[in-house]
Amino acid sequence: MVKEWRVHNPDGSRRVVVTKELPGERWLNILESADCRVEICQSSDVLTGVEIIDRIGSQCDGAIGQLTEAWDAELFAALAAAGGTAYSNYAVGYNNVDVPGATTARIPVGNTPGVLTETTAEMAVALTFSAGRRVVEADRFMRAGRYEGWLPTMYMGQRFVGGTVGVIGAGRIGAAYGRMMVEGFKMNLVYFDPYPNERLEEFVTNYSAFIEQQGGTPVTCRRLTSVEDVLAEADVVSLHTALDTTTHHLINAERLSLMKPDAILINTSRGPVVDEAALVDHCRAHPDFKAGLDVFEDEPAMKPGLADLDNVVIVPHIASATVWTRQGMATLAAANVAAVLQGYPLWDDDDVLPFLSGEVPAAAPSIVNAADLGLK
Ligand code: DGY
Repeated sequence: MVKEWRVHNPDGSRRVVVTKELPGERWLNILESADCRVEICQSSDVLTGVEIIDRIGSQCDGAIGQLTEAWDAELFAALAAAGGTAYSNYAVGYNNVDVPGATTARIPVGNTPGVLTETTAEMAVALTFSAGRRVVEADRFMRAGRYEGWLPTMYMGQRFVGGTVGVIGAGRIGAAYGRMMVEGFKMNLVYFDPYPNERLEEFVTNYSAFIEQQGGTPVTCRRLTSVEDVLAEADVVSLHTALDTTTHHLINAERLSLMKPDAILINTSRGPVVDEAALVDHCRAHPDFKAGLDVFEDEPAMKPGLADLDNVVIVPHIASATVWTRQGMATLAAANVAAVLQGYPLWDDDDVLPFLSGEVPAAAPSIVNAADLGLK
């Protein structure tokens, strides 16, 4: 079916294609200030590569794409052939982008870090508690009119305070989740990451000293040497790795079997990090085990049986879905494209907040292949 496109700033001299409507106005103002005519697809269907190439046409300066689209070498070659020099993903993750393909086409690839760190971690916390305290099951029970009065054994779940939380992938989001669980619920933290997160460890050490001063029980943070060790030790495990060949099915049947029978597994990273069919089997066999999932292996589909399980909480990839964050992501994606088109340098600070209000810095907030393109 033919898709409808809306055009913003029709007289702009540069042409930028945006494959989905984005929230807020700031992103449009940024592109308009860079003299861009912005063409935005109004359909909620996922665009195919052919449809995107069709829209790029014979002249296009830049594009903003979605994590649901496969931005492969062919697409980047088409963009480059149309004179395009800038692309940004509307996401921090970019497993949908063939970065070497973009680099070959000499196209910088932007992403949107920094604005979804806490927001995504908050959703991981929400899933942890929804799963562990059986919120969705109990909600369904109430709506079905089945509540006939308080009972001592009704919907008993897990206690978090003083337990052990495990984080796999202690980058920005994983560390934020770890801090929230330590600070909020006095949990001990174990994590696996190829690199130590010294700031996270220091935070827990300082926080522990503070709790002790108040007469409380200290908390600890330990980096373990393997994923297996974290799975075996933690009461709750939250996944925060990027998806690549090394993390595909990182959590499989064998590793699930290492987890405590009443543990909780949270995934807000990418679906294929978990072997979802194995998770379905595991949750069926261990009714006290819980999972909270924001992402799915074959999104938007779920593996057969997943939706029937009471011990799984599922939401549709909304971990970054707050107004502030989604508008912030739009701003960063637009700023990436506008900066590249205007020949601005890279922003050399992890703090991207200056892009979100006031005058937009004359810099590209985040370009993932900058080093390969000799941009830094
Ligand atoms: C991302 O940004 O990678 C999320 O999955 C969507 O916000």
